[in-house]
Amino acid sequence: MVATILSNPIKDQFPALDQMVSGHPLAYLDSAATTQRPVAVLEAMEAFYRHDNSNVHRGIHSLSVRATDHYDDARRQIARFVNASVPEEIVFTKGCTEAVNLVAQAWGRQNLTQGDVIAVSEMDHHSNIVPWQVIAEATGASIEPISVTQKGELDISSLRAVLATGKVKLVAFKHVCNAIGTVNPVSEVAELVSTHGATTLVDGAQALAHIDVDVQALGVDFYAMAGHKVYGPMGIGALFARKELLEAMAPYQVGGGMIQKVTLTSTTYAPVPEKFEPGTPNVPGAIGFAAALDWLSDSGKQRLWNLESELAHQARERLQSINGLRVIGSARETAPIVSFVMEDAHPHDIGTVMDSEGVAIRAGHHCCQPLMDRMGVGSTARASFAAYSTQEDVDALIRGAERVVEIFGGKC
Ligand SMILES: Cc1ncc(COP(=O)(O)O)c(C=O)c1O
Repeated sequence: MVATILSNPIKDQFPALDQMVSGHPLAYLDSAATTQRPVAVLEAMEAFYRHDNSNVHRGIHSLSVRATDHYDDARRQIARFVNASVPEEIVFTKGCTEAVNLVAQAWGRQNLTQGDVIAVSEMDHHSNIVPWQVIAEATGASIEPISVTQKGELDISSLRAVLATGKVKLVAFKHVCNAIGTVNPVSEVAELVSTHGATTLVDGAQALAHIDVDVQALGVDFYAMAGHKVYGPMGIGALFARKELLEAMAPYQVGGGMIQKVTLTSTTYAPVPEKFEPGTPNVPGAIGFAAALDWLSDSGKQRLWNLESELAHQARERLQSINGLRVIGSARETAPIVSFVMEDAHPHDIGTVMDSEGVAIRAGHHCCQPLMDRMGVGSTARASFAAYSTQEDVDALIRGAERVVEIFGGKC
């Protein structure tokens, strides 16, 4: 295994990784914040701007037709990647945050009322918590937490207890935890939720790059995605929504491009998904997103998962053997994300020392303050791995952690 990892040829396809930082070769271990982009994605986006740049859906000239074809193809590719039953079930958004806001505002306003409960996991990203708080306030619904165990897993018994009240209308949780790596049992939860007649929204921001996502097999109603977490560009994401839900929802934002007929006093809307995509869409973003998913499929997702998992496992084991260092979370199934704290150094100090060694990690609460509270920490240092990660990256991470111990001490 180590031999293959040492020579990870995929890394050469990522130009941003080929640089020195603080006099060391860059070890980029911040892919959970955003991945790097392969040449295939950069070229697909550049080709659009160089040859086909035009607005979509509004022109009959050749460039506009080509741009529209590329945009529609991108939607089809994303639908295929997550096995949506039809491309119309994919709505382009700015990212995962906007996808959740769309559901909270468009579905929530129509379907929630006084006395209803939105169940949100304690593990969730702020972008899958705050939109529910806002819509709860607006509709009179309330939020009930789904607890997390000390290992950092969803406490299914707490979900059962909340569902047993008979008041739950929607359950929101993430597929993969960005802060500590937990992979949640999405199909098990979705089945439980649907037997109680509630709707499921899954934040898939961290899953798409690592795990095969089949929205039909998972049995979810809504699944939110982010292009930049899966080797695609920033500023583009997508919402999968079951078509009948989408068709019943009123638009979230309104304006040009999403209408059928406008008079000065009334409007009828375009069919889905256009109804949810007002204004000029992020066409190069959609093209780059689709190119990223193609690239990932062509590169062999399972093989990459094995490689990333092996590296993260090694990192976890080696970090744990460092005096004064504690890994946070011990879920049975994890994505390649390792979060840790050190007794004598704040995570921000760890991040600064790591950077001086050329190692890019993230330090903070990872937009998961309720989870940090649950795990009894204010923040963590986080190393996250991706398709281009190598054995050298793990070695650099360990050297960085040892350097932190040298500087700050590290007794347990
Ligand atoms: C689990 C999770 N959900 C949501 C988001 C927000 O995604 P976006 O940046 O696409 O809005 C992130 C980004 O860190 C995340 O990790």
